[in-house]
Amino acid sequence: MDIRSGSNRTPGSERLSTEMTKITYIEFNGTEHVVDVAEGLSVMEGATRYTIPGIEGDCGGACACATCHVYVEDGWFEKLPPMDELERDMLDFAFDVHPNSRLSCQIKVDPSLDGLVVRTPARQY
Ligand code: FES
Repeated sequence: MDIRSGSNRTPGSERLSTEMTKITYIEFNGTEHVVDVAEGLSVMEGATRYTIPGIEGDCGGACACATCHVYVEDGWFEKLPPMDELERDMLDFAFDVHPNSRLSCQIKVDPSLDGLVVRTPARQY
């Protein structure tokens, strides 16, 4: 039986899988947070659910604030789906953008991202 089809699901849980993907968030001060993030969430949502400092996500993932800016660790940036034009435009509003910058709300978590490492910038504003 698929446990996701039960009647006692919490609202909003229908888009989540039971698959978990390990993601490492490294704060600007070097503090590491290794957490399991459910497939279907974004990398930003994973951070905010664990209240990881340094990722704000003010617009809730609508690609309209750039407060979810992260630096993707070497070896992972090229494995991610490419940026679309909206993300590229919004990234212009982020602080201290580097070639490996992404907006974490635009990165959907799936098992292929197991082991992903992202770093937060010094600040989001
Ligand atoms: Fe607003 Fe990512 S959460 S752009």
